[in-house]
Amino acid sequence: MLFELLDRDGLARLGRFATPHGPLETPALLPVVHPDPERQPVPPEEMRVRLGVRAVITSAYITWRTPPLREVAEREGIHRLIRFDGPVMTDSGAFQQHAYGSVEVTPDEIVTLQNQVGSDVATVLDVFTEPDEPPEATERALGATLARAREARAARSGLLAVPVQGGSYGDLRARAALGASEFGDVLAIGGVVPLMEQYRFPELVRVLVATRPTLNPGAAVHLFGTGHPMTFALAALFGVDLFDSSAYHKFARRGSVMTPEGTVPLDEIRESTCRCFLCAERPLPEVATLPREERERRLAYHNLLVSVQEVGRVRQAIRDGTLWELAERRSTGHPALRAGLREAMAHPDVFLRTEPESRRAFREVISESMGRPAVVRFRRSVEAYCSGRPRALRLPRFPLRPEYLQHVPTVDAEGRPLEWETSTPLGVVPVELTEAYPVGPYLGVDEFVGPTQRRSPGSVAAAVAAAVPSGVDLGRDWTFDWDARQVARVLEWRYGRLVAERAAAGARADRSRRTGRLRAIYREGEPEFVLSTDGIPRPTFRGATRLMALLPVGRERVVVHPDAVPFVREGRSLFASFVLQSDPALVPGSSALLVDPNDTLIAVGRLLLAPHEMARLRRGVAVRVVAHARSPDSPPEE
Ligand code: GUN
Ligand code: ZN
Repeated sequence: MLFELLDRDGLARLGRFATPHGPLETPALLPVVHPDPERQPVPPEEMRVRLGVRAVITSAYITWRTPPLREVAEREGIHRLIRFDGPVMTDSGAFQQHAYGSVEVTPDEIVTLQNQVGSDVATVLDVFTEPDEPPEATERALGATLARAREARAARSGLLAVPVQGGSYGDLRARAALGASEFGDVLAIGGVVPLMEQYRFPELVRVLVATRPTLNPGAAVHLFGTGHPMTFALAALFGVDLFDSSAYHKFARRGSVMTPEGTVPLDEIRESTCRCFLCAERPLPEVATLPREERERRLAYHNLLVSVQEVGRVRQAIRDGTLWELAERRSTGHPALRAGLREAMAHPDVFLRTEPESRRAFREVISESMGRPAVVRFRRSVEAYCSGRPRALRLPRFPLRPEYLQHVPTVDAEGRPLEWETSTPLGVVPVELTEAYPVGPYLGVDEFVGPTQRRSPGSVAAAVAAAVPSGVDLGRDWTFDWDARQVARVLEWRYGRLVAERAAAGARADRSRRTGRLRAIYREGEPEFVLSTDGIPRPTFRGATRLMALLPVGRERVVVHPDAVPFVREGRSLFASFVLQSDPALVPGSSALLVDPNDTLIAVGRLLLAPHEMARLRRGVAVRVVAHARSPDSPPEE
């Protein structure tokens, strides 16, 4: 497979896709280029030089049915025809079937042409299905598409894009995704342009929900016709790596200016609010006054620039772990888009296998923010943690600093544990887990209107006095009891009760002097677990050694192929092709115990890939090593 994952935010991936014309960094926008240079408003070479466009898509079908174009393409290649010296993907003509009802070319002929003209990524001639087509017809069309994919694969040695059809039917989409995965280097979700044109975003999302889980994670994912930049972040949430757009030109033809927040008629733009290099040459209000052809050309150029910029923002957001935030902000551009985002959040299980264990921050953007998969996972874990425990007493939220904790008893007069919970924007949470992601690093409106920051230790003491049963000792200092409780409980939350009881015995809490945050768990003077701002206990090499003795074989483990053991032991990253096995409960960002086939610990790592991806992505890093047998554990950071 030619797709390598470099970084990620959930399903969204920053990747590298190898093509005969060099690697393509993804997510990438492939502008649709007309094969006839005379009809192309922005020359592809100029897109490359001035906009940083790395790859384009053009129509093999239009080339095929236009003899003068076809002659040049057959003689000199598709790159010369469209005048672009980078990766060129070609489309097959199925879209013309959608637009005009039929195409004359045969599946065979169009593959042959794509081979002949040196297309970097050729596309199978699929049977386009309209979203409102009945299920029988949709199923027949899907069967035809997959049969053609099988034949195309045999007829092509280069990269092949296989369209994924299946209409509006979840089961057919899933089957299409599975079938396409067998043949495609690029899996191209098709039949969705009508949904996008009609702003039927919840339906588009349902297509993605049904399709994504069965797509081969080792292939690049393309969404045919993702034209409008306001939709890129939402599509990227589902792991779409390649967008293609003819919309920049279509919108220009009807005088529409694209922005990431929506569409504006050019004629209504009176102020020069954009300072891009095109507007520096000629501001949009002036473009409106130009003759038709020039106006269309300049507007297409501008629409494309805005689209390319938005893909850049999506890429940056993936690096920063803020793609949900970006998608939420974009969704406010149009209620239909927001409805689409809500639909996505109604299917958390599509995201949870690849949802990172934590992110640097959790910033509330809109009310839907509280429905992100990170919150769903946290709520489920809190529910599991609380089951079978005595009912908790409620306290207002407070920082877990000694001056507060000293007032909060952990046992009643008979020595039975007293449980405490607190209400947070992400639901009711046991006090000892309030530093964990996402509630710990949560930043939302509440933080600024509520009294949390100003609440005094005295007010917590008063709330305690009102809540506790009689006879509880309110005079003594409970700080050390809380240290022991939080240490045991965060370990229990992460590793289960049996492990926690033994790992916490004799342990000491190390709190930040400035914030009170639990930042390390020591035993015998050595740190065994370190907690950063995500509040998740992560083992040092020493801690990992203890976990090895406490956890059953397989749990928390990634088993390393013998050939890679010497490298991993020295701290080198573990590549996907050297993973023998992995605990399926781990997720990207999890700390893992890296062991050799005899279950001897060789390193501690952080997962980049989810376990189910390791087997399918044969290229690139699967686990980054953070501590290994040869390095002393580094002290925790403040
Ligand atoms: N362009 C936009 N939608 C489609 C599709 O479903 N199939 C193909 N081949 N091209 C498209
Ligand atoms: Zn501009």
